Amino acid sequence: MTTPLRLLIHGASGRMGRAVARLAAERDDLVLVASVARSPFGDAGGEGDGASVRPPTFLPAASLADAPKFDVAIDFSLPEGFDAILALCASRGAAFVSGTTGLDPSQRDAMDRAAARIPVLWASNFSLGIAILDELVERAAAALPGWDCDIVEQHHTRKRDAPSGTALSLGAAAERGGAQPRYASLRAGDIVGEHTVQFAAAGERIELIHRAADRDIFARGALHAAARLVGRAPGRYRLRDLL
Ligand SMILES: NC(=O)c1ccc[n+]([C@@H]2O[C@H](COP(=O)([O-])OP(=O)(O)OC[C@H]3O[C@@H](n4cnc5c(N)ncnc54)[C@H](OP(=O)(O)O)[C@@H]3O)[C@@H](O)[C@H]2O)c1
Repeated sequence: MTTPLRLLIHGASGRMGRAVARLAAERDDLVLVASVARSPFGDAGGEGDGASVRPPTFLPAASLADAPKFDVAIDFSLPEGFDAILALCASRGAAFVSGTTGLDPSQRDAMDRAAARIPVLWASNFSLGIAILDELVERAAAALPGWDCDIVEQHHTRKRDAPSGTALSLGAAAERGGAQPRYASLRAGDIVGEHTVQFAAAGERIELIHRAADRDIFARGALHAAARLVGRAPGRYRLRDLL
């Protein structure tokens, strides 16, 4: 049997971090060595699926420099925590997987710089369905010049950034196809994530819709990508390169 890869989860007490930890425990190719969060667990999501249980691997974000050796980090935190974990991965030579959204341009540039030293994967959405939707949107936009393109996204009320990172990525796909997308965001209830890309012209409309019913799809995609990213050459990777 091969030695399991050592995994650090950054944002471990959050909704996504907890899903990643739970699903990582079901795999024998990864072993969790550090669970980083700002506060000692407790209140990140409050959805009753283990939010208040502090794992033995807990490491406060303020002590990130003391992290044990790890091969790959999965980061689902917030923009204010992002720089520190990216810098740690670059300095330790560890692979970096992140789904944190709401990053600013300087944080995106920092990923490009880090990619000279380590393999880096950032994805606004780790579901296979969205990877496919991205391709469909680009094709539809290219085939429908002059049509209106609108992207409507819906998420739970605790989501901070708007439009969502996924909506912006879908918009980039539409722009590659020649469309000029507009965005609308709704925050309601506990919606995990819903994205509609609508193309409209006089007398007709096409709607492409993706609905995420469960955060596990994102967590599973991130774990899958993490296991496949370790050992690769430094550089920026896309989810579809690893699926
Ligand atoms: N790419 C995708 O597929 C995908 C899917 C879902 C969500 N997301 C994104 O993933 C991120 C997390 O989402 P979530 O719903 O899990 O959020 P969440 O429940 O609010 O959890 C955020 C986590 O980040 C930690 N954190 C906050 N500030 C930090 C800092 N300065 N240093 C270290 N850790 C810090 C929090 O710890 P404390 O509680 O101690 O502050 C908590 O563990 C968001 O950006 C969200 O948009 C991406």
